[in-house]
This record gives sequence, C-alpha cells and structure tokens, in this order.
Amino acid sequence: MRVNSLPEQMYRPNIKEYLIDESTRPCFLQGDALEVLKDFPDNSLDCCMTSPPYWSQRVYSEVGIGTEGNYKDYISSLAAIMLEVQRVLKPTGSLWLNIGDVYVSKQLLGIPWRVALELIDNHGWILRNSVIWHKVKGGPDNSYDKLRNVHENIFHFVKSAKYYYDTDSIRSNPQTTKVVNGAVVSSSGVSGIRYKRQIELSTALSEQEKKSAIQALESILEQVRSEKLADFRMIIRGHQRTTHSDSEKVSGRARELNEKGFYFLKYHPNGSKPKDVWDILPEDTQKRNGHYAAYPEDLCKIPILATCPKDGIVLDPFCGTGTTMLVAFRLGRKSVGIDISDQYLAMAEKRCGSFLL
Ligand SMILES: C[S@@+](CC[C@H](N)C(=O)[O-])C[C@H]1O[C@@H](n2cnc3c(N)ncnc32)[C@H](O)[C@@H]1O
Repeated sequence: MRVNSLPEQMYRPNIKEYLIDESTRPCFLQGDALEVLKDFPDNSLDCCMTSPPYWSQRVYSEVGIGTEGNYKDYISSLAAIMLEVQRVLKPTGSLWLNIGDVYVSKQLLGIPWRVALELIDNHGWILRNSVIWHKVKGGPDNSYDKLRNVHENIFHFVKSAKYYYDTDSIRSNPQTTKVVNGAVVSSSGVSGIRYKRQIELSTALSEQEKKSAIQALESILEQVRSEKLADFRMIIRGHQRTTHSDSEKVSGRARELNEKGFYFLKYHPNGSKPKDVWDILPEDTQKRNGHYAAYPEDLCKIPILATCPKDGIVLDPFCGTGTTMLVAFRLGRKSVGIDISDQYLAMAEKRCGSFLL
C-alpha cells in the first residue's frame, strides 16, 4: 500500500497515525479499496461519500470495480467493499453512495436499486434517503425511442438507527419574524388578519369551529411573536386549496380539515430542510483532463455537513480526483481517499495539495 506522496509535511506513514493526527489535511492511499480498508481499525470513521465506477461504462484502468463480466458480479464486488466501509464506520456513521445505471440491449438494468436492495437485504444497512441528483442539463442523447436521462441516484445509508445527523447545518434561508406597523408578522408577512377575516365570514365552518379556529390562530401567532415559529400557513375548510390528497384515507391533514375545519403548515425558524431532489450541474467535461467522472463539489456538501461532525473523518474509497477530500477540507473535516489508480491519486493530491499550500 502506497501512502500519499504529498510534500513531506503532509506525509502520512499509516492510517492509524493519520486517524489520531490533528491535521485536517487529506490522506491519500493507493490500492484496491477492499484490501486497503482491511488496515483500518473498526468503528473509526464518521461518514463515507463515494461514487464507484459504474458497471461496464467507463474504464479507468484495466482493473478495479466496474470491469466485471456481468452486473451480478459487479454488485457482489461493490457490496463486499461496502461491508468493509460498514466495519470502519462508527456506529453513528453514514454512507452516501452515488451510482449510475446502464442499458444493455435496450434494457435499463436498474443497477442503483439492485445495489441498494443488496445492501439492505443482505448486509444490514438501513436506507434513510434515496436522493435524485437532477443534473439539470444532462449529456447528449441521440436515441429516438426513450427519454433523455438527466438523473442519478444517491443513497443515504446508516449503520445503525442511532446515527449522527446535524439537520440545522443543512437548512436553507433561516427565517425571522418582523415588525410591520407595530405588529409582529411572520417572515413572509403573515399577520393572521386575513385568516381571521376568512374564519369570521366563513359559511363552511360552524360557530364552534370558528371559535376554536380563532383560538388556534391566536396561539400560533403567539408562537411567531416569541420566535418559536418563523412562518405558517392556515388551511381553512372552504377557503384554501389543500396541499395533499383530499382523500381522508391517505391524508391525516384531510381528516383534520374535515373534523376541525382547519389545520396549520408550520415552518421551522432555522430554515427549511433540503429536499431529496438536488439540482446540481455535473462537472464541466471540458475540464476533466484525463478523468472521466469527477463529480461536482456541491454533491458532497450536504452529506459531509449533515453526517460528519466538525471533528470527524470522511472516507471516499473511490476518490478519483479527490473531490470529496477537497470539500471535506474546506468544511474543516479530516478525510481519507483511496483509489486504485496512481494516476488519479496524483491528480487528487495535486488538486488538494495546491489548495492546501
Ligand atoms: C467514478 S470515479 C470517482 C470520481 C471521484 N468522485 C471524483 O470526483 O473524482 C471512480 C474511481 O474508482 C477507482 N476505482 C475503481 N476500482 C477501484 C477499487 N477496487 N479500489 C479503489 N478504487 C477503485 C477508479 O480509479 C476511479 O478513479
């Protein structure tokens, strides 16, 4: 196993030393991830963000994952590496796995979900999210009998049900209440006056329902005043369009609307959580310089922020040009990158090295 060849001061003699070192400089290790990971102690890393080569799609070198003769062997090889990842992750750890699909003789194989189900069914991983990476523009597609593909999957797995997750670190647009003409209003300007009028003039609510709706409105406005809530919307029977199925069988809110005559949508004061569809442009192919599948830096931000504590360590067993390591370093986290290819590791080292110097 070759340990990194960064300038002398970044040299890491072995992984165990790196794990206890205080520096956040990335550590690069060359070799087959399955073999290299065997040197890692159990329960030592916090989060893994990675994108293995896709099956039979691109050849990075003559060896390595993705070159198997059939996709079932690919899934087994990948699952074996992920089992090592599972061992080296702390019990609170997370695995974020970006995988692409492939067509063979017109058949879309569904590889990402085949891998996910293998990890769930036979390797004990718990799947928390299936994120769609919407690539916004996608590559050229000259086929005449199917849609253009513009997405890939990113699965978020955890090792155990009690895992580290910092939701606040990934919320967007923290919202605050404001004072307008002496009255406290929500971040989007809701003061309750319009809702109050709608309740009072409603012909769809009984007198008793009106009374409890006004009381509930007063109480939620109090939460806005005391900044426990940043914003809310009130759905009143006969007034607002519901944001869910109207069928009571499928929606608790529909039932609430039917039984009480109203319900609230509440917005967290620290901002909203990211959705499970991410609009992120792929890396510019013109800039790839010899590596054909560097993923965009933005893809790593939510995984690292949410599932690697500030003093934690990020792993990428297929680090390629070192995107995961670069983002981890920028976010103040230590990281370990493994790749089978010397050539790509040199690029990763150069990329992170020049950033660090
Ligand atoms: C999709 S690329 C990763 C790109 C990376 N996310 C980036 O942004 O540059 C997959 C990488 O896995 C490496 N690889 C393939 N088989 C491997 C194995 N068995 N062990 C370690 N690395 C491997 C390839 O050399 C390639 O660089």
